[in-house]
Amino acid sequence: MTIHHILKQMTLAEKAGQLTQLPPHLFIQTTSDDIMGNVHDLGLNDTQVFLVGSVLGIKNATEMMAIQKRYLEKSRLHIPLLFMADVIHGYETIFPIPLAISCSWNESLAHLTARISAKEASAAGIHMTFAPMADLTRDPRWGRIMEGFGEDSFLTSRFVQAMVKGFQTDSLSNKDSLASCVKHYAGYGAAEAGRDYNTVDMSKLSFYSQYVQGYVAGINASAKGMMASFNTFDGIPVTVNKDLMVDVLRNQLGFKGITITDYDGLNQVIAHGAAEDTRDAAIKALNAKIDIEMASTCYINNIEELVKQGKIDIKVIDEAVLRILSLKEELGLFKNPYRFANPEKEASLVLSKEHLLATKRVALESAVLLKNNGILPLAKTDKIVIMGPYAKSTGTNGAWDWHGDNAKNVSLVDAVIELAPQTKYIDSINTLQNIDASVVIYVYGEDQYETGEAKSKVSLRIKPSDIETIKQLTELGYKVVSVLYNGRPLILEEILDSDAIVEGWFLGSCAAEALTELLFGIVNFSGKLTCSFPRHEGQIPLYYNHLSTGRPYNKEQSDPYTSFYIDCENSPLYPFGYGLSYSTFTYTNLRLSKTEIYNDEILDVYVDVSNTSTIDGYEIVQLYIHDLKATIARPIKELKKFKKIWIKALSTVQIHFEIHTSILTYTTSQNTQELETGDIKIMLGPNSQQLIEASVLYHNKEE
Ligand code: GLC
Repeated sequence: MTIHHILKQMTLAEKAGQLTQLPPHLFIQTTSDDIMGNVHDLGLNDTQVFLVGSVLGIKNATEMMAIQKRYLEKSRLHIPLLFMADVIHGYETIFPIPLAISCSWNESLAHLTARISAKEASAAGIHMTFAPMADLTRDPRWGRIMEGFGEDSFLTSRFVQAMVKGFQTDSLSNKDSLASCVKHYAGYGAAEAGRDYNTVDMSKLSFYSQYVQGYVAGINASAKGMMASFNTFDGIPVTVNKDLMVDVLRNQLGFKGITITDYDGLNQVIAHGAAEDTRDAAIKALNAKIDIEMASTCYINNIEELVKQGKIDIKVIDEAVLRILSLKEELGLFKNPYRFANPEKEASLVLSKEHLLATKRVALESAVLLKNNGILPLAKTDKIVIMGPYAKSTGTNGAWDWHGDNAKNVSLVDAVIELAPQTKYIDSINTLQNIDASVVIYVYGEDQYETGEAKSKVSLRIKPSDIETIKQLTELGYKVVSVLYNGRPLILEEILDSDAIVEGWFLGSCAAEALTELLFGIVNFSGKLTCSFPRHEGQIPLYYNHLSTGRPYNKEQSDPYTSFYIDCENSPLYPFGYGLSYSTFTYTNLRLSKTEIYNDEILDVYVDVSNTSTIDGYEIVQLYIHDLKATIARPIKELKKFKKIWIKALSTVQIHFEIHTSILTYTTSQNTQELETGDIKIMLGPNSQQLIEASVLYHNKEE
């Protein structure tokens, strides 16, 4: 029977049910799912519960199969349940948080994390993941910065695309594929003041040129779902924002998949003050072509009456139901409602040796070396003490670690002592005097549960006790290696006395093993920041691709009437694209194939990069442009290309980039691409601040 036949047989109540998603505990009492607020008292009766079309989250394959079996026994038309979950950076084998993965500048690793997550999750009975998060953010006060890929839309787009393809493969009929629902459309990362769920107010130019790019990358990678964000946009909650959800997402951007609210998001439209009641909310969301209502009951409690009263055209309902049935068909659920759920296979895959090796590999490329005065790499013979609030912590999964279990991870103390047995752990600086040591590894930062959803902060400061400890240790003459566990850029100005600073993020199941290999030089650092580290919270929003302004600040000039702070530098403490290595690299001999280019031509860019050290290492060569004059002011630099390249000790490689004129264009507030005649600066270097440059004159023949 085709899905069109099924649709024809469905009652209005069954159609309303298909548009509803509930947590699993309403079906079966074995799940200890962490459900917020009012979902427990949704007031649904058993009949309604067994009409819903999808489930949010399950414990494992056994539970999924039990729920599916029990549901199908009660389902008149045997339409299988669709199981969705937040497999963001791992199912049970946990990978570094997405912000850390982006610091690898290695999309193939992102693809690998998605592939392995999909293998584990599909064996556990999950059909769709609410990932990747494509929200651009320039505000580290926002707790969910950890869940995205940093402040640059080009890099974000590349990682979103890699994740979607990694989850979905080239067909959902593949046995370990997982449908991807990109989120949170749109602009959620631009919440005012970095306060979660807060108002988003941006120009169409910012929207089209920056914030929408990640979602577009997901659509271009054929993502099957898109989640509406909690925030308002142009004053209208996205969940009921017809302009954004239909005119832009479906008509302009061509998205054909299913759309889903965020958790209880439709109900919250009333709290926004944009709907009278659940009926009003349901009408507005249906007109915005929202297909699935997650964890609230506006649809299931009102659709029948709204259609009978002619408030909603049944065609709107049928169109939404058909999109959901079509996804279920594409997943093969009508042929096999259990799809690839397999308890034995799940048990063999989760935390397998192969998967743990993979997450360690990703962690090795995601950590970032921010400072090193030569104390690193450590030697096994060094007299080392390790201490700090997180030294013995195994809490390295970070937020949104789904079924990850921090208790199964190793602490940095145990990993370091495993490699260098003479290392001593101490829990207080007072113990130090009795120990013969010269180096202190100090592990601190922020707790993983200070990051993620609803974890916004006004202060990004290092805790005063940690600042004091670093000060005491350096005054006592110890060499201090700061290892940070954190899910957002922090203010590091007060720990700069450290001899080395390692950005350890939350690197997942094998964080400690990876950090140990990096600290002792078994593996070389290669990560680079994808988010600016401010000197002070007062600089936020702070991002590298800003405009010049009419009064650009210049340190060398003394003109007081320029754009600067009287109490802080404009620049970040650590800029976008920055990261050190045990190797040292120089950039020379930048040359362009032409001095002038025309529409549709290609410019060849060459630069020589030398590894001037005796240690082989990766270098991430970054290419930025600056369109010096256009109808609209252009950012002083924009990342357009990058290459992560292995360069052997004491050797030089020639790096070549092909620049097609299409990547020089800028996006307008009408979402068109423009490029006018004029000089374009081409800049290359190891980060967004240390750049060598050349210029090319672009001629637009149509002008
Ligand atoms: C949460 C998050 C969203 C997640 C959803 C389901 O509130 O905003 O990212 O996918 O609920 O857990």
